[in-house]
Amino acid sequence: MRIRLGLARRREAPVIALMSRDLVEHGIPSSWNEDRVLNCLVDSSFVVVVARHIRQVAGFAIAEFTYNKIHLDLLAVSQGYQRQGIGRQLIEWLESSAKTSGRKIMSLEVRASNTGAMGFYNRLGFYEESVKHDYYAGKDDAICLHRRLNSGLASIDSC
Ligand SMILES: CC(C)(COP(=O)(O)OP(=O)(O)OC[C@H]1O[C@@H](n2cnc3c(N)ncnc32)[C@H](O)[C@@H]1OP(=O)(O)O)[C@@H](O)C(=O)NCCC(=O)NCCS
Repeated sequence: MRIRLGLARRREAPVIALMSRDLVEHGIPSSWNEDRVLNCLVDSSFVVVVARHIRQVAGFAIAEFTYNKIHLDLLAVSQGYQRQGIGRQLIEWLESSAKTSGRKIMSLEVRASNTGAMGFYNRLGFYEESVKHDYYAGKDDAICLHRRLNSGLASIDSC
């Protein structure tokens, strides 16, 4: 399957917001609406990257660059495209940008109940740093993960 990664376009904001609601924020009030995604597209401290298959958005990531790190706000891959390496490619794309601009750490929060995503991030070498209790609308804890960017992503072939 030919997947191409690139910066998101304005017309892709609605599908990104829908994917966020359905794949990431299910069961809690949606905080990533179309306007918020559009704001990220014009704010130079954010990057919104999409993985496209033909013209479809198969996956996306939104990350914020701060002075010394990159914080991953959102990452999702549509169900029909999962487990085909797209999530990993999106993280690698962000990591490459972050390293080029001198950032040392990638951080993120993940819902404690999201065991699939925890498996994914653990596989990519992220470590648990702390827990924010009831962070998601009082319904779910957030596990705070981080990863130093001075080494490559954990290789799938290494185990
Ligand atoms: C988490 C998510 C982004 C992973 O994307 P993906 O494209 O399916 O992941 P990849 O194919 O790149 O996976 C790379 C490796 O991570 C691990 N991995 C991926 N999904 C996993 C899961 N559900 N359980 C355990 N390990 C997993 C595997 O080792 C996988 O390699 P393999 O398929 O060769 O075994 C995707 O499942 C998703 O969008 N889920 C719903 C939204 C979500 O949870 N987002 C994260 C919120 S913080």
